[in-house]
Amino acid sequence: MLERIRQTTSYLRTRLNNEIPKAVIVLGSGLGQLANEISGKTVIPYSEIPNFPVSTVEGHAGNLIIGELAGQRVLAMQGRFHYYEGYNMKEVTFPMRVFAALGIKVAMLSNAAGGVNPQFSKGDVMLITDHISFLPDNPLRGKNLSEFGPRFPDMTHAYDPQLIETARRVAKDNGINLHEGVYIGVQGPSFETPAEYRFFHTIGADAVGMSTVPEVIVAVHSGMRVCALSVITNCGLSGEVNDHEDVQKQANQTEPVMTALFKGVIASL
Ligand code: HPA
Repeated sequence: MLERIRQTTSYLRTRLNNEIPKAVIVLGSGLGQLANEISGKTVIPYSEIPNFPVSTVEGHAGNLIIGELAGQRVLAMQGRFHYYEGYNMKEVTFPMRVFAALGIKVAMLSNAAGGVNPQFSKGDVMLITDHISFLPDNPLRGKNLSEFGPRFPDMTHAYDPQLIETARRVAKDNGINLHEGVYIGVQGPSFETPAEYRFFHTIGADAVGMSTVPEVIVAVHSGMRVCALSVITNCGLSGEVNDHEDVQKQANQTEPVMTALFKGVIASL
């Protein structure tokens, strides 16, 4: 594992000409358009990156993009890896390990999620302020590599308070109605039953999705600052039938709002 991280880090360091980006941006389902706003870009398909898994989900392009956004050098993952695809937690979080090893200090994550807060509507955006892991595994399970981080990392401020504050300000300045709340990470790939949506609301979640939590755990373990947004693509409590294509369509529609928020936060780094 350590050797694979070294290999991939060394490959990317060369591709980056040793200029380390200010932030890594992870683009979720139907949220890959932000990549079009990155200037002077180099696009590296995951298939060219040593040891990188290949994304298998529709709506996830599978490219790493290097370039400039909001005046900062950034790295963007157009497409991520999910536990439901069959990858183990170490594979799901391998890219985040590599980004941390490269010396990137900020991780900006996005996802499509189902709202379980009855106040939320389709197309709303939620700033994640905390999470609940409902996943069957933790990416830190197994021997701890102390050069990466502590055995028992603290998760009290997993979502960086300063970046939360910045996102609030950016939303206000841009007239964006930004919800805040708790994201619950589940394994999927089946959507939730009505009883599960109700349960997740009861236990304190505002949105549910199949990603983000493992990446956040590894980012925090590595000492990175995290900022994460959920695009609410469906309302779990509505009783409406779910469909991945609808999720992608809704994510696509709301994408400009997410892009504006990310650009504002990145400009402030
Ligand atoms: N549940 C889980 N993941 C999701 C959902 C959902 O309702 N919507 C988008 N991703």
